Amino acid sequence: MTFLGLVVLLLLTFASLTSSCTEDEQSSLLDFLAQLSPGSDGNLRMSWMHGTDCCAWEGVTCRGDNTVMGVSLASKGLTGSVSPSLGNLTGLMNLNLSHNSLHGILPTELVMHNSIAVLDVSFNHLTGPLKELRPLNHNLPLQVLNISSNFFTGQFPSTIWGAMKNLIALNASNNSFAGQIPASICKSSPSFSVLDLCYNKFSGNIPPELGNCSMLRLIKVGHNDLSGALPHELFSATSLEHLSFPNNGLQGVFDGSQVVKLNNLTVLDLGSNGLRGKIPDSIDRLRKLEELHLDNNLMSGELPSTLGNCSNIRYINLRNNSFSGELSKVNFTLLDLRTADFSLNYFTGKVPESICLCSNLIALRLAYNDFHGQLPPRIGNLRSLSFLSLTDNSFTNITNVIQILKSCKNLTTLVMGTNFNGETMPQDETIDGFENLQILTLDGCPLIGQIPPWLSKLKKLEVLDLSSNRLTGLIPSWINRLELLFFLDISSNMITGDIPMALMEMPMLQYKKNSAKLDMKFLELPVYWTQSHQYRMLNAFPSVLNLGNNRFTGTIPPEIGQLKMLNVINFSSNGFSGEIPQEICKLTNLQMLDLSNNHITGELPSALSGLHFLSLFNVSNNELEGPIPTGAQFDTFSNSSYGGNPNLCGALLSNHCISVSSHQSSISQEHKLHHALIYGFVFGGLAALALLAFFLIAKL
Ligand SMILES: *[C@@H]1O[C@H](CO)[C@@H](O)[C@H](O)[C@H]1NC(C)=O
Ligand SMILES: *[C@@H]1O[C@H](CO)[C@@H](O)[C@H](O)[C@H]1NC(C)=O
Ligand SMILES: *[C@@H]1O[C@H](CO)[C@@H](O)[C@H](O)[C@H]1NC(C)=O
Ligand SMILES: *[C@@H]1O[C@H](CO)[C@@H](O)[C@H](O)[C@H]1NC(C)=O
Ligand SMILES: *[C@@H]1O[C@H](CO)[C@@H](O)[C@H](O)[C@H]1NC(C)=O
Ligand SMILES: *[C@@H]1O[C@H](CO)[C@@H](O)[C@H](O)[C@H]1NC(C)=O
Ligand SMILES: *[C@@H]1O[C@H](CO)[C@@H](O)[C@H](O)[C@H]1NC(C)=O
Ligand SMILES: *[C@@H]1O[C@H](CO)[C@@H](O)[C@H](O)[C@H]1NC(C)=O
Ligand SMILES: *[C@@H]1O[C@H](CO)[C@@H](O)[C@H](O)[C@H]1NC(C)=O
Ligand SMILES: *[C@@H]1O[C@H](CO)[C@@H](O)[C@H](O)[C@H]1NC(C)=O
Ligand SMILES: *[C@@H]1O[C@H](CO)[C@@H](O)[C@H](O)[C@H]1NC(C)=O
Ligand SMILES: *[C@@H]1O[C@H](CO)[C@@H](O)[C@H](O)[C@H]1NC(C)=O
Repeated sequence: MTFLGLVVLLLLTFASLTSSCTEDEQSSLLDFLAQLSPGSDGNLRMSWMHGTDCCAWEGVTCRGDNTVMGVSLASKGLTGSVSPSLGNLTGLMNLNLSHNSLHGILPTELVMHNSIAVLDVSFNHLTGPLKELRPLNHNLPLQVLNISSNFFTGQFPSTIWGAMKNLIALNASNNSFAGQIPASICKSSPSFSVLDLCYNKFSGNIPPELGNCSMLRLIKVGHNDLSGALPHELFSATSLEHLSFPNNGLQGVFDGSQVVKLNNLTVLDLGSNGLRGKIPDSIDRLRKLEELHLDNNLMSGELPSTLGNCSNIRYINLRNNSFSGELSKVNFTLLDLRTADFSLNYFTGKVPESICLCSNLIALRLAYNDFHGQLPPRIGNLRSLSFLSLTDNSFTNITNVIQILKSCKNLTTLVMGTNFNGETMPQDETIDGFENLQILTLDGCPLIGQIPPWLSKLKKLEVLDLSSNRLTGLIPSWINRLELLFFLDISSNMITGDIPMALMEMPMLQYKKNSAKLDMKFLELPVYWTQSHQYRMLNAFPSVLNLGNNRFTGTIPPEIGQLKMLNVINFSSNGFSGEIPQEICKLTNLQMLDLSNNHITGELPSALSGLHFLSLFNVSNNELEGPIPTGAQFDTFSNSSYGGNPNLCGALLSNHCISVSSHQSSISQEHKLHHALIYGFVFGGLAALALLAFFLIAKL
């Protein structure tokens, strides 16, 4: 080796000696690495190599004096457990392991660390309780603790917070913690300002001590089992900007005159509790209010006119309460308003003109109230309006509604059944507009007339419900030009004729709903299928062809076999005759097939038993004969599926088929059947329930 080479080597050695982390720190980090699963260590082994300077390792930051200060390994795909040896890094301040798949416990060495200020292990698979320890150090530096979105369980600790005098933010949301909201957290941590405990199993009352949290900006404890009233002390925490307790069991009177003390409030969310009371006249003192969620409570009274002075409001949800009176008391010239849901109340009067000035309004739901009259013409000026629900009121003049709303270019959802009592369906071919409409419901009015020709221009239509009217005439031949339509309900009308071939050529029922064609966006407001389920994606709706309870005649065409995407066929209560085409057995996505109350003859295709998703099957009251299908799903249907067909036979029916099988096998058959009945009925029944619920779609 040359002299120069030796000098360079010495210099390098010297450099690495002076600017390298200590051997101890290196081994603490390597011990952490060793606890990770080899295949899922985010390739850290490439960079974290023994004998190299750990300050240069991926995700590691050091101070000037080469002590490790931060370890930041979010979203590295790490699996394995969290080594307590990280706690040996005596200068560590920031540890971020969020968005990995780490499992096991969270070592107390990290929570009780003498230098860590920010600890984020959110979005992992960590388990176990958080231990209730009494740390020796009564002034722990921890400021931010995020343990949210893991699988932690057990009683939430109460005493450890006493040692965390510097705590500012605690996020334990989306776990399974039980117990009470820690009451004295602010007493020990004077700077405490963010508490997120949503999606857990917290119970008990909201502790009044929280009112002493002078720095508390955000409290979110939604989706827990809290009970009792909102303590009035809470309204002394005047720094609160975000107050959110939805989906709990809170009760008592929501005292509006107290809440207006919270001058800085931007979000108030008390939805889905059992609160009574009124919206106070002084609501306009909440100058910064942007979101008001009081849905699913027992609140009542009229809206105060002062609501019109909450000029920053963007979101109002009063759905499902007992509010009453006229909306026109309020001057709704609220330029930031995006979403307003007044559904399921006792509001009366007309739709106020001032709503037409909410130029940014995207979604308006007025369904299930006592509104009447015609829509104000200027509602057509709402260029952003995308979701409008008028269902179940006493609105009049459907012609006028169509004329006005056709200029809302952004309208995608228009649900307005149970209005326009006995009016005539506008037939005018010159009606245009609605070029973006995806959902249209106009059921249960009942309207007279025919399926109108202007519908043929709604090229984006995916869901059409015209059920329970008095429509006559034929299914129009242009129906297959609605290229995206996959939900068609024209049941309970007086429609006549054969099933037209066009209906067997509906593109969206033939081919997979593909995301390229269908808009995958979320609905602006959820539609409710059942009380407990709300759905926001149009794509999640089933493919439905419901022609039930009309005056159709003729046979079921074999081309039905083309509609491979169908989930639901209802042809019941018509005048269909002829045999069930074999091709129907190709519809492997079918979950519900109802052909009851027709004049269908012949045998049931045995290949029907290959329809593995079928959970509701009804061919009762026809003129069918021969054996009923057996096996798979068919062992789960009860004899009510077949009633009123005296010539059908099978093990389920009083009319047994003349069988060639031995007595023995018929017993075991019955035994199997019994089992299938018990289990199948439960599962089939649940699926059918979900399906039936589809028919409540969009009606709210
Ligand atoms: C961490 O410290 C503990 C206790 O001082 C010790 O037992 C352990 O060996 C250390 N771990 C590493 C990897 O240095
Ligand atoms: C941790 O890292 C993630 C991803 O970079 C980031 O979103 C999160 O805010 C960080 N946590 C804290 C407490 O800063
Ligand atoms: C965890 O919560 C803290 C405090 O609320 C927050 O700053 C941080 O961004 C959160 N981390 C992630 C990954 O969301
Ligand atoms: C708490 O963490 C969750 C992720 O688990 C995040 O969505 C939420 O915004 C956080 N809360 C706060 C107040 O930062
Ligand atoms: C809740 O946590 C689970 C598991 O980490 C995660 O998959 C889910 O996205 C989280 N939910 C929310 C709303 O953050
Ligand atoms: C709030 O703090 C004051 C002064 O420390 C105390 O007197 C009061 O009892 C506390 N209130 C609650 C509800 O803890
Ligand atoms: C309300 O917000 C303003 C502006 O952010 C702030 O200056 C004021 O201190 C806040 N009020 C309270 C009581 O926290
Ligand atoms: C209305 O809210 C009550 C709770 O106050 C709830 O039990 C009920 O299911 C809700 N109804 C609807 C239709 O959402
Ligand atoms: C709204 O505020 C203005 C200005 O403070 C006031 O003159 C008006 O009376 C208020 N309107 C209502 C309905 O309270
Ligand atoms: C409603 O409020 C707007 C804007 O604040 C105002 O211009 C208009 O005159 C008000 N209308 C009525 C009827 O008070
Ligand atoms: C209409 O909808 C489109 C797509 O959602 C959106 O980009 C556009 O801003 C909307 N137009 C108005 C006037 O809101
Ligand atoms: C219904 O609306 C149409 C179109 O806007 C209008 O010509 C007609 O006069 C209205 N009918 C009644 C009874 O108001």
